Amino acid sequence: MSSLDEFSDILLRDEPLAPYTWMKLGGPAQFFLTPRDRDQLIRVLQACARLNLPVHILGGGSNVLVREEGVGGAVIRLSAAAFAEVSVEGSTIRAGAGVLLSHVISEAVRAGLAGLENLSGIPGTLGGALCGNAGGRQGEIAPLVKSVTVVRLDGEISTRSGDDLAFAYRSSDLAESIVLEAELALQPDDPNEIANRLRKIWILKKSTQPLGSQSAGCIFKNPSGASAGAMIDKAGLKGTRIGGAEVSDRHANFIVTHEGATSADVLRLIDLIRSKVAEQFGVHLELEIKIW
Ligand code: EPU
Repeated sequence: MSSLDEFSDILLRDEPLAPYTWMKLGGPAQFFLTPRDRDQLIRVLQACARLNLPVHILGGGSNVLVREEGVGGAVIRLSAAAFAEVSVEGSTIRAGAGVLLSHVISEAVRAGLAGLENLSGIPGTLGGALCGNAGGRQGEIAPLVKSVTVVRLDGEISTRSGDDLAFAYRSSDLAESIVLEAELALQPDDPNEIANRLRKIWILKKSTQPLGSQSAGCIFKNPSGASAGAMIDKAGLKGTRIGGAEVSDRHANFIVTHEGATSADVLRLIDLIRSKVAEQFGVHLELEIKIW
């Protein structure tokens, strides 16, 4: 009997992770837990620490590729209602880590609060967006962050102000702890104007990215001052296929998958792209997605 047994009502063993990810690939989680609230999350974290189990937090599954062999240790998903609350006070929106970013955006638009519409079309949860400083050409989440409440792996809860957080291009120092909720400081504006801006960004993305296909968004970070997608395209790799994984014809920084694809196909295609881009441009592309 492991001491995770006390969590039997929220614990699944060898739970296949593929259905929880956008790529729909990869193996199972040794332990898969969905805590009901903060207190239970803390008890889960403490048990994992006692058992020396590595802890992985799964958000919306839109920026992760799970290997065929799956993930050892605990995969925790903050999908319970306690992590999905959204409220508006003045021009501040407060939301739980498990809320979809798209939902936070629509609540902000409904309340006539501007700023978040720049993140239109970005999948995943608020927690994931904060950890990876989600963004695009129109801006990123970092400047909107007023505070973030986190829990450390030892169970200690603290609230950090936006100014104390270290955000950089597609990264933050939040990944060392677990985001519970955040406050975002927005600007009052006409809801119709905000909705119009949101629609424009969405249309632009839809016309340049394969949003209807199975993918995990951009695979690589943009090297400083350049576009990974443009480089992969110039290297002639659009449409290149390994097994069921293919470099998107629409945007070369996306890998789309077809029936029968495996994580191993995607990983081999990633290696091929990296070596061709290094050969042609002398640039080592860094992964934007996480590989588990
Ligand atoms: N380009 C090509 N070929 C391609 C793709 C792009 O020539 O196959 C060219 C475009 O024509 C354009 C330039 O490269 O001149 C930049 O392309 P784009 O505007 O699509 O932006 P990006 O730098 O490739 C970034 C983010 C996206 C985000 C878009 C739009 C990264 C790695 N990517 O893409 O984010 O949606 O801007 O805001 O920062 C993601 O993070 O998962 C993601 C998709």
